[in-house]
Amino acid sequence: MHNIRFRPMQNAKIAIIADIHGNALALTAVLADIAKQNVDDILNLGDHFSGPLDAQSTAEQLIDSDMISIAGNHDRQLIELAPDDMGASDKVAYDQLSTRAIDWLESLTPTHIYKGEIYMCHGTPDSDTTYWMEQVSAEGVVNIAPRHQIEAHAKGVDYPIILCGHTHTPRLLSLSGGRMLINPGSVGCPAYDDDSPVYHIMQSGTPDACYAIVEKRADEWNVSFKYIKYDNLSAAKMAKNNGRDDWVGGLKTGFYS
Ligand SMILES: [Fe+2]
Repeated sequence: MHNIRFRPMQNAKIAIIADIHGNALALTAVLADIAKQNVDDILNLGDHFSGPLDAQSTAEQLIDSDMISIAGNHDRQLIELAPDDMGASDKVAYDQLSTRAIDWLESLTPTHIYKGEIYMCHGTPDSDTTYWMEQVSAEGVVNIAPRHQIEAHAKGVDYPIILCGHTHTPRLLSLSGGRMLINPGSVGCPAYDDDSPVYHIMQSGTPDACYAIVEKRADEWNVSFKYIKYDNLSAAKMAKNNGRDDWVGGLKTGFYS
């Protein structure tokens, strides 16, 4: 039995993407920008397809790429639920996806450790549906979660860079031990509403696609967030044509309406 040991990375530059949600137009623009950044790898934190947009074109871009992808809650639902039990966003994606795309989803794991230094999960290490950095009050107001709660989820996750997605909110938090917790924001869905735990909305306030770059130089990690313009009005039109007015405002403006 061999333990795989990684030598600490020297210089590294990694692009982080998440929550594409079937927005192939946004993904194309983000990948074009990443292609100019000279990165070593792309890490993708899940929720690849679900939404009233273009799941199959998204799949074609992801499956044949070299990026390292994990599964989000919607990816899990696409393979766990019977089509009749799926929510509207999962069902419209499921109906578009090829067998190859579903097979690809089945090959994904919920977490991954990249080269011994970067921990990837969708929600938290233990749950793909839990908000890690944010909390929702009884009145449905979303704020940054208390520090002790954020740290509790990170207990034993001893990697300098910890990645999560799910809340579509780009954010960098400094954890104990010099660790950084990063949500790169959402490539394809800048605003949404949710009934759990109580009704609330999440909104980035810009229609631009969002991703992050983490870079290690001289033993120090630095993080930057990038906002990429793309043809968001065509994406909004697609959502409208698929009967999802609740997606239209977010795609047009970044604000939920
Ligand atoms: Fe999610």
